[in-house]
Amino acid sequence: MNELVIRQPDDWHVHLRDGAMLTAVALFTARQCRRAIVMPNLVPPVATVAEALSYRDRILAAVPAQFQFHPLMTLYLTEQTTVAELAAAALNPFIHAVKLYPAGATTNSDRGVRDPLSIDPLLAELERSGLPLLVHGEVVDASVDIFDREAQFIERVLTPILVRFPNLKLVMEHITTTDAVNFVLEQSEQVAATITAHHLLYNRNAMLVGGIRPHYYCLPVLKRESHRQALLTAATSGNPKFFMGTDSAPHTQANKESACGCAGAFTAYAALELYTEAFDQAGQLAQLEVFTSLNGPRFYGLAPNETRIRLIRQTQRVPEFFPTRDTERLIPLRAGETLAWQAELIG
Ligand code: DOR
Ligand code: ZN
Repeated sequence: MNELVIRQPDDWHVHLRDGAMLTAVALFTARQCRRAIVMPNLVPPVATVAEALSYRDRILAAVPAQFQFHPLMTLYLTEQTTVAELAAAALNPFIHAVKLYPAGATTNSDRGVRDPLSIDPLLAELERSGLPLLVHGEVVDASVDIFDREAQFIERVLTPILVRFPNLKLVMEHITTTDAVNFVLEQSEQVAATITAHHLLYNRNAMLVGGIRPHYYCLPVLKRESHRQALLTAATSGNPKFFMGTDSAPHTQANKESACGCAGAFTAYAALELYTEAFDQAGQLAQLEVFTSLNGPRFYGLAPNETRIRLIRQTQRVPEFFPTRDTERLIPLRAGETLAWQAELIG
């Protein structure tokens, strides 16, 4: 197959940032995705309904006028979050989820929750309202090996939470392991997962063989090949529990190429091309649309997009960098290399 037309996708997990970076990246998501669940890990975090609405306005102002793009906002759960704020969020048409960062787990997570097992009143409110809880699923315990943090989180945190709140609507974000795939499969239909394109395309060798490659460093970190295979099987299975969430996470070149570089891969510039490549390599192009464009809306209770996007098998070169307004450079995943597919919105 050298060409396919699918419904326009949505990105169910993306970092659009703020200020100069927002201006640099917003168009990339908007030119491929009709909607996107926007992560709230700004500094300070987007923790209230009012903050989410003002962030939404800044996003809309940064998106070029020709795109029909709808940012779906999220709130960052802090230890100060109140039940009343979550109740207000559930009633607000622009807010679609709440994000749980274990404090210290990843970029800008310091204001997150130190003990996710100590926020029962908040979880009870989410279970009551049906507002989805999006989870960064890694323990932060320094004694746990970084490659085991996701599996440990399932055992220590997610399992007990779902025993106490069996009707909680929950997305385990950017899953990276066989353990997470199996866990999600065992739960009710209220529990789903997003999978990134980079975790479908690469294992940890991409980051560590022949030199340390900081643009492949993200969290949860890339895992071994057997885990990548499990993710591919899940993503291409058609199971409604698995859907697209790029976790595109732009950082400046200086912050990535550093003695202590930030976690995050910038993939939004070619999100759909990268997913298409992964599905093509697996011989599963026929399952692409379900994963990118149908399962996500179904989980969030929204209609799938009516607009279409065309994918053509055509090699294109990835720029070495994208400029940002403040002279810092943004290095995309695969900078200077090639993409095997090209996406174009046909409306
Ligand atoms: O690689 C990542 N980057 N993982 C995250 O969880 C956060 C993200 C970011 O905000 O940079
Ligand atoms: Zn993320």
